[in-house]
Amino acid sequence: MKQRILVMGGGVIGLASAFELAGRGYEVTVLEAGRCGGQASGAAAGMLAPYSENLESPDDFFQLCRASLELYPEWQRRVRQVSACGFEYTASGSLYAVCHEADMLALESRRLWQREHGSSAEILEGDRLFAAEAQLSRQVRAALWTPEESHVYAPDYVKALEQGCRRLGVQIEEDLGGIRLGDLDERIEAAAADGRFFTGDQLVIAAGAWAGEWSGLLGIRIPVRPIRGQICAYRAEGSDPPLRHMVFSSQGYLVQKEGGTLVCGASEDMAGFDTSVTERGIDRLIHWNKKMIPALEGRKPFHRWAGLRPATQDGAPLIGRLQGHPRVLLAVGHYRNGILLSPVTAKLTADCIDGRALPAWCAAFRPERFGPV
Ligand code: GLY
Repeated sequence: MKQRILVMGGGVIGLASAFELAGRGYEVTVLEAGRCGGQASGAAAGMLAPYSENLESPDDFFQLCRASLELYPEWQRRVRQVSACGFEYTASGSLYAVCHEADMLALESRRLWQREHGSSAEILEGDRLFAAEAQLSRQVRAALWTPEESHVYAPDYVKALEQGCRRLGVQIEEDLGGIRLGDLDERIEAAAADGRFFTGDQLVIAAGAWAGEWSGLLGIRIPVRPIRGQICAYRAEGSDPPLRHMVFSSQGYLVQKEGGTLVCGASEDMAGFDTSVTERGIDRLIHWNKKMIPALEGRKPFHRWAGLRPATQDGAPLIGRLQGHPRVLLAVGHYRNGILLSPVTAKLTADCIDGRALPAWCAAFRPERFGPV
């Protein structure tokens, strides 16, 4: 008989895991407190940028991000095909821009390690830089060009994943409110406040910024907390040449979506579970945006929003099976990289459920590494 897997959380990680598991023949139910994709996943800028988001060194977390980037071309083809839903996936490459001579050494050392790890990164300066990205401020001294990076339109990608899950027979239960977990050892039991009741053979907890709530029940520390990202978007204006690359700097990023909307992010605020947008947060983005792209001077974003990134104490996610509760797996704490990490997390989670051991380098993501409660 097919095993039944309960997936707690209908964000990008929960949906991607459900999609992969259903594709491997499991019966899957997604349990979502609110609406699928309603939190960090739907709010993300969708950058698939392991090099630009990991500046210092190619550590295990970078390797995880890179492995996921490599899965993306095939993964997104499969999601598209199964769901019959389109979503933007643009191989734009990225520019990591610096404005000061003093930053050149750091840029060069990033170029060197990136080239040892699958990128053909180059430093662009002067005419070459402005030919590549005409809208950049002439105050930009140089930029590290990483052609391998790309982006998706996250809200459409998450909708496609949801639709793909449905087409594979995944049962998606939304608006469950609080969910209570009962037995975890003989089988999995989950009860919703409205009386809906679910059982399964195994449970994947993919509850994003809310994952810490299960710490007491599971007996392990799950130090995941919400970090708010405020973000804004400008409408395209006819006179602007499009931004061809994602543009990163130490202060944020800009990424132009199909149809011309320019998305600019993002703050990193500790505000608990508050997803409101503040004047101060958006003003800081506006100030930085016009410094990088002078054409934005005097323009106001037409849309402002915020999402909660699930950050862990050591910055790395928790992925894998619990030794203390062998029917339970965690897939949480993806912080700034949930969209990027969705294919690799889905694959590793499904490999665990298939009974396969994870590669040795995944020890860095062991869910029990923070010790008991
Ligand atoms: N990955 C971009 C962000 O979290 O803002």
